[in-house]
Amino acid sequence: MAISKNSSSKKWWKEQIIYQIYPRSFFDSDGDGIGDLKGIIEKLDYIKSLGVTAVWVNPFYASPNDDNGYDISDYRKIMDEFGNMDDFDEMIKGFHDRDIKFVMDLVVNHTSDEHEWFKQSRSSRYNLYRDYYHWWPAEKGKPNHRFSYFDEKGDAWKYDAHTDAYYLHYFSAKQPDLNWENPEVRREIYDIMHFWVRKGVDGFRLDAFQFISKDTSFPPFPKGYQNNVVDVIKHHGMGPTLHDHIREMNKEVLSKYEVFAVSEGAGSSFEDAHSLVDEDRNELQMVYHFEGVEVGNGLDDPHTLADFKQVHSKWEESFKDKGWISIFLANHDVPRMVSRFGNDSDEFRVASSKMLNTFLLTMRGTPYCYFGDELGMKNIYFQHINEYQDIAAKNGYKKALSEGRDMKKFMQNLSFYSRDNSRTPMQWDNSEHAGFSSDSPWIAVNQDYKEVNVAAQETCPDSVLNHFRKLTSLRTNNPVLIYGTYQQVDKDNPEVYAYSRTLDNQVWLVLLSFVETDSTFQLPDNMQSFEIQGNNYSELHINDGRAKLKAYQAVVLSQKS
Ligand code: GLC
Repeated sequence: MAISKNSSSKKWWKEQIIYQIYPRSFFDSDGDGIGDLKGIIEKLDYIKSLGVTAVWVNPFYASPNDDNGYDISDYRKIMDEFGNMDDFDEMIKGFHDRDIKFVMDLVVNHTSDEHEWFKQSRSSRYNLYRDYYHWWPAEKGKPNHRFSYFDEKGDAWKYDAHTDAYYLHYFSAKQPDLNWENPEVRREIYDIMHFWVRKGVDGFRLDAFQFISKDTSFPPFPKGYQNNVVDVIKHHGMGPTLHDHIREMNKEVLSKYEVFAVSEGAGSSFEDAHSLVDEDRNELQMVYHFEGVEVGNGLDDPHTLADFKQVHSKWEESFKDKGWISIFLANHDVPRMVSRFGNDSDEFRVASSKMLNTFLLTMRGTPYCYFGDELGMKNIYFQHINEYQDIAAKNGYKKALSEGRDMKKFMQNLSFYSRDNSRTPMQWDNSEHAGFSSDSPWIAVNQDYKEVNVAAQETCPDSVLNHFRKLTSLRTNNPVLIYGTYQQVDKDNPEVYAYSRTLDNQVWLVLLSFVETDSTFQLPDNMQSFEIQGNNYSELHINDGRAKLKAYQAVVLSQKS
């Protein structure tokens, strides 16, 4: 079959609605306060009932948990706290029996320092595993600066006295970076991928993937370099051998099966992003970029609707003919969607959560829906540093203290932006610990669980949960929402985000109010006659060809011919 170069060509992975599960926080089956694989198994029917077609489960490999499973000590073993391989087999079978695909997190930029490879590597300069990691002999002096996300000093080089050398860790000191220039390392990784595909995995989410290739001579950074998002990505990753490695991975693994791979990170330009996923590159299938969740990153720099529209529209525009992206508003690394882009006050949490879910499920690109967002779960807003569990928060705090930063401001920002906001336990019912566990959970439960929980929302036809289900069904049954072209309408409207989706002779229009007041929207001539396909209110007021939208109203209209 000829491969079409057009991004509207049909592919099963473009048609998925992916539900992301953070296993530690989803459901605890054995009462130790930590979610587990058996817990996911118990909730398979709930997941199916959402109308999602695939799940991505965050890492559940053996790990000392310095970074909640993103520090892997054995790629072929399940973390003790989460269960064992039999549980995994039962879980994946449970998903497949329900026609749900399974996407696995593959963390191969780094391992845990407790992985056998690293133990060997650090044991002697002459060990066979020495070159599995990046070492810098101390007699050459201190290596040039590299930034670390989770280090107390922001320093990615850690001195190891045993062999008088520094090793590289872009994340915590317990997450040494693998040396992808070593063919043995790549071979090991492909073996791991084969192992999991043979166990039934349908896709891989490639963690921190843009960082696997770096200039291993570690030259000084150019003048003017700063530790900001763009510079970090540009200078720490997307190195000279990246595409060779990915093409090799594609040839050795991906092309041999019906699996897909999505890269966390898309480089620092559209060109970078296309180079990873355009079909004629034979590399990966999808990327997710961070710009959408970085809009207005900081309390001093709040986002506007104009920024939000601009970011999403420019990515849609760039990918309209070639390549494919994913759409997401939250995950385990960023705050809760409704707190960030909607309005989490008692008055507007429900309407704005439904509105944001409408956005996710009517955009072009594969939607990734984060667990709990189908209920409108919001940030927990911790106030004290000892409430935080995340290494990024704890070490970020130490770093800020040592730099003499304004700690009041630091804590305010942390309270809003911390990753722990989206890691609080799933709220199943109004019993103690939100029905997540019979014991105290590893991280505090959000106290709004008495109102915001699955049980309460199941019985209420207008709940955020039931609205989510309507939207997944709408997307699944209407290819216009998957393959239709995207076009912004009335793009300068400061209150309403509107776009059309068009496929063959079908035209749909999505109207999303981002304000707490009423707003009006002039319907285009071709949409004066329509059917309502989705609405988060019971009515839609039209006057003289103008739609009068309520606070955070979201409607999906299809043109009537
Ligand atoms: C990715 C993960 C994040 C993790 C980091 C290091 O960004 O999403 O949770 O901390 O990689 O593995």
